Amino acid sequence: MCGIVGYIGERQAVDVLVNGLKRLEYRGYDSAGLSIISDSNLITYKKQGKVADLETIIEGKNHRSNIGIAHTRWATHGAPSDVNAHPHRDNSGRISIVHNGIIENYGLLKKALIKRGYSFHTETDTEVLAVLIGAFYEQTKNLELSVRKALSEVVGTFGLLVLSLDEPDRIIAARRGSPMVLGIGDGEYIIASDATAIIQYTKQVIYLSDNEMAIVSKDNFATKTIDNIETNNQIHQIEFDLEELEKGGFEHFMLKEIHEQPYTIQNAYKGRLIADKGNVKLGGLRNVADKLRNAKRIIFTACGTSWHSALVGEYMLEQLAGVPVEVEYASEFRYRNPVLYPDDIVFAISQSGETADTLAAVYEAKQKGCTVLGIVNVVGSSIARETEAGIYIHAGPEIGVASTKAFTSQVMVLALVALYLGRMKNLSQLDGKRIASEIIQLPDKINQILARCEDIKQIAKKYIYAKNILYLGRGYNFPVALEGALKLKEISYIHAEGYPAAEMKHGPIALIDENMPVVFIATKDEIYHKIISNIEEVRARGGKVIAIATEGDTQIKQFANDVFYIPETLPMLTPILSVVPLQLLAYFFAKELGRPIDQPRNLAKSVTVE
Ligand code: G6P
Repeated sequence: MCGIVGYIGERQAVDVLVNGLKRLEYRGYDSAGLSIISDSNLITYKKQGKVADLETIIEGKNHRSNIGIAHTRWATHGAPSDVNAHPHRDNSGRISIVHNGIIENYGLLKKALIKRGYSFHTETDTEVLAVLIGAFYEQTKNLELSVRKALSEVVGTFGLLVLSLDEPDRIIAARRGSPMVLGIGDGEYIIASDATAIIQYTKQVIYLSDNEMAIVSKDNFATKTIDNIETNNQIHQIEFDLEELEKGGFEHFMLKEIHEQPYTIQNAYKGRLIADKGNVKLGGLRNVADKLRNAKRIIFTACGTSWHSALVGEYMLEQLAGVPVEVEYASEFRYRNPVLYPDDIVFAISQSGETADTLAAVYEAKQKGCTVLGIVNVVGSSIARETEAGIYIHAGPEIGVASTKAFTSQVMVLALVALYLGRMKNLSQLDGKRIASEIIQLPDKINQILARCEDIKQIAKKYIYAKNILYLGRGYNFPVALEGALKLKEISYIHAEGYPAAEMKHGPIALIDENMPVVFIATKDEIYHKIISNIEEVRARGGKVIAIATEGDTQIKQFANDVFYIPETLPMLTPILSVVPLQLLAYFFAKELGRPIDQPRNLAKSVTVE
């Protein structure tokens, strides 16, 4: 949550900062603001709303400045408003900070500071940190030392940038629990919550670690721990290109990302699947192969959409590798006392690699001595770095807040893990080859679905009156039902629930009437006839049925009001196909309703707070 960016160099800082905020806006869009130093003045602009609203108040100001910090907010402490927008200043007005994260003990710190005569103008936890840094600066007259002292008193998480009129040639950055990337340009530096704000200027980056600071001036930088021990960081190369951050002719990022899936799932298996041998090579797991083979149990932990792909993974691993699997919401996992054994393998699944709950679950499992692995999209992210080994899904930057291509790529990678482990155990080469040959047909099959995107649009138009929609599926399609419902909720604000189809009769059936459409994911598999019975139960009660069915299934037309066909594949791979029409359905509902599809209200893409 929240995006931060800082710049120091030769360019006009305002331009770099505003560009950076636009790239980071998916992280939060309650307010935006920036501070620059121009002609020995510390100038701040901030505004409730989106970056475009901030632009309206800085337009035409033409401040000359080569240093500044900026922020786009997802509100936690204090309502979204102009006054609560970042940056925040200390009491002298000479220090300005932007912050991503939460200062948990801000109440106590604030009380103590008020007692000492300091005053506050906002409801935010961040202002407390700004005032605290300022209070230390009065004593030390040294910005770096003041930041270090303040941070040693803080409980919570932060990605922090500090700018001061008294040391106008540097930006101080620090992180604990919130991401921070330092871009190293030619005589310039860009520091941001993620690489998307940096790539326009340089591909060379350093990923700061937890409890690390960077002191950045125009010509050099130093990194050290918050306790003042020097650190050495490897320089990494950003792997994606600038074009991947553009809409590429699509109206929304979400639609673009849905259409990228034939290519992104290929990226997930390319170089890993050895189709002619029915095998998988996973370089990232090489060092833990024996532990995986001998694991008595595998635990997946994740949040949101990633939790749904974990459910698909559970079914796959149990089917192909015969290993017991549990799937845990990271937020629950970390707060109970999970019973973990040293020979358990814990996989954390996360698109962003920064979700606070998932990261905390990683720490919890490590603490208990488990082997903790990651399935992550964002290279160099916290979860990627904190796990012992792992697999990148290589889906490229996902900007739309509602996750789409990350889901299918996660499921693809989980299929590879299941095949990998299955082949280490009892899965025959013949079965391995059959699965592999189905995998490589998936991109083409997704293309066939996308080519009929207009049919889904018509279905959305027909049911646009609905206030509630139920999504039902069984087996591998149960997690898809959950994901379809989540997509609809997130971007159209229509209430939707996903359920295992057979559970419908234990409650949701009471809701069914002619105003409540039911989406059935009813593809051909061994329990197909059971789902047909569930469809009949809905029809008998006047419910309207939209079915996602397998091509060639003519029987289903008698039961469903609308049918959308998807190509046939193995049941374990079906989610990669069946989710696509549901992503499109959510998209077209939201579009018909005029919703802000890429930036739905109240949500943020990267949830770095608990
Ligand atoms: C947020 C996003 C979801 C995402 C979830 C988990 O809620 O809006 O799209 O699925 O976080 O995020 P992660 O980055 O850990 O997969």
